Amino acid sequence: MEQGEKTFFITTPIYYPSDKLHVGHSYTTVAADALARFKRLTGYDVWFLTGTDEHGQKIQRSAEAAGKSPQLFVDEVVSWIKKLWAALDISYNDFIRTTEPRHKKAVQHIVNKLYQQGDIYKGRYEGWYCTPCEAFWTERQVVEGNCPDCGRPVELVGEEGYFFRMSKYADQLLKYIEEHPDFIQPVSRKNEMINNFLRPGLEDLCVSRSTFNWGIPIPFAPENVIYVWLDALSNYITALGYSSDDETLFNRYWPADVHLMGKEIIRFHTIYWPIFLMALGLPLPKQVFGHGWLIMKEGKMSKSRGNVVDPMRLIERYGSDSLRYFLLREIPFGADGVFNNESMLQRINTDLANDLGNLLSRTVTMIERYFGGIIPSPEPEEQPVDRELKETALSTPARVEELMNRLQFSGALEALWTLVRRSNKYIDENTPWALAKDEEKKGRLGTVLYNLCESLRFIGVLLLPFMPRTPGRIWAQLGIDDRPELQNWESLASWGLLKPGTKAKRQADLFPRLNIEKELKILLGEKEPEKVQDKKAGTEEKSSGKKEDKMISIDEFSRVEIRVGEIISAEPVPKTDKLLVMKVNLGEEEPRQIVAGIAKYYAPEELPGKKALFVVNLQPAKLRGLLSEGMILAATGPDGKLALTAIDDDLPPGSRIS
Ligand code: MSP
Repeated sequence: MEQGEKTFFITTPIYYPSDKLHVGHSYTTVAADALARFKRLTGYDVWFLTGTDEHGQKIQRSAEAAGKSPQLFVDEVVSWIKKLWAALDISYNDFIRTTEPRHKKAVQHIVNKLYQQGDIYKGRYEGWYCTPCEAFWTERQVVEGNCPDCGRPVELVGEEGYFFRMSKYADQLLKYIEEHPDFIQPVSRKNEMINNFLRPGLEDLCVSRSTFNWGIPIPFAPENVIYVWLDALSNYITALGYSSDDETLFNRYWPADVHLMGKEIIRFHTIYWPIFLMALGLPLPKQVFGHGWLIMKEGKMSKSRGNVVDPMRLIERYGSDSLRYFLLREIPFGADGVFNNESMLQRINTDLANDLGNLLSRTVTMIERYFGGIIPSPEPEEQPVDRELKETALSTPARVEELMNRLQFSGALEALWTLVRRSNKYIDENTPWALAKDEEKKGRLGTVLYNLCESLRFIGVLLLPFMPRTPGRIWAQLGIDDRPELQNWESLASWGLLKPGTKAKRQADLFPRLNIEKELKILLGEKEPEKVQDKKAGTEEKSSGKKEDKMISIDEFSRVEIRVGEIISAEPVPKTDKLLVMKVNLGEEEPRQIVAGIAKYYAPEELPGKKALFVVNLQPAKLRGLLSEGMILAATGPDGKLALTAIDDDLPPGSRIS
């Protein structure tokens, strides 16, 4: 297929410029960028859209608090956001701001059209509003006066307003979701949308606000502004020129291939947005993917909790490629994961400095030492280890592509690191330093070093979407930085394209090893480094206590909250044979993620549907980078075997054990 024939339209949400963005915000954008770059690499004509969501009461209040006009306030924050995206090498094709005339005009067109066709009507709204989420809630949904999403207090609003006939399209949407299994991903989010929102019935949505004025005026009732989510969601088509004089981009790229976002806004994108599109008679996006949250050990990263991590600081100190790598590698996309400085520094040292950096530096150093810097020719005959390395390299692109198509960034990087590690092992298996001692083995030495260079060429190309700065540095050391034909996806179809005789040149280490203790102190502003929880020490301390110390009072026991949970899904945790990561229904709004050391006794496929007991008020912990929000109870038999506690099937998930 010709370049440009296959199109791919990917979006991030548009960001609130209410504050400086933290590293959690960078997560969606880095992931979208990796996918956009990957699709470009594999021949797609990509349109990658991001931007800012600048209207609404929340922004108006933030501007007032800062003593600035809303426009000045958003202008300043937006320029900071653009700097952050530049520092992270975000390769967006367009950045839409909802305060731009192109957007405002198209949104007014949309609202007019919906009004004229009778989908927007005048009525009176009375109910609850959460300003931080800019979301309406019904009495039934509000939890003790607080927003069911963010937990902050809701406000009672009562105003004359304009309503959108959401209910009219509910059945059509349900049918669409059921007929398009890939539309909402991951699947657990789809079930949540159907069961918690669609099935109980949709209420018409108030799409106007009259108590403040920072928004787009409703054309036929200009004393009202348009509800910020209708305004914001429309960006995905207004940025493509929908309803403007030039609809070329719209015709080329709509419908979107992927709308990427955090899970908390999936509801707006899988209920409101498709219904607005249906009302406009437009095709729906192919996929809406809700990823998990990056959280700190004390909970979600947020300014009000004072636990935000500034991405700019990490980029300045460790480089944007290191931060991108960590974000994409550490947490399986879709799951929640804990952000922790120490895990990031450790990944930089092990994966980047040791595995990747050493592979390159060892290879190029040996080429300089044994061949005066000239990449030697391989011998014609292949040994089994050569074939294995070559086959690993040749099969990696397809594996990475398959995982990227499922947005499994961490898995794709793991597949790539299999090649990195295989190459390091190849050095150890062939001991080039021993071959170098024997003049007769010079030919074999040349083969080994040539193969390593070729493998590094593959690694460089495959790294492009994830760490856009590093491949160039690898190619410069291999002497092929001016050879674009060796740097593209197509060049990964053949092994041996690198020309022997090319001049390699050792340069600075790709990722210098970090002194983790020292870095932790620096990141904490010279305070004592964060204590890493030493689980073993904790257990030993407890078990060394005297017997009487182990007795607990009924009050102590009652602090432990044990509930019945139903396991919805279970998957092995990569690189360990002990752990499984599960989604568990504990009778709450959302299933919890719980990691348990039961993999030796239970296969992942036998767990879904099983009920077990869970401790639900343990502080969240991080196991292998995965957040665990509870603990499963299991008994250990005399032979050391684990068995889950039996539950009477009649007990529904969430039942408390007392
Ligand atoms: N303005 C709305 C989106 C409108 S789209 C039509 C919004 N903006 S946001 O600035 O609050 O969030 C932007 C993105 O950052 C979302 O995908 C959100 O999920 C993501 N994240 C914000 N904090 C996050 C974490 N702590 N972890 C992971 N992603 C998080 O919502």
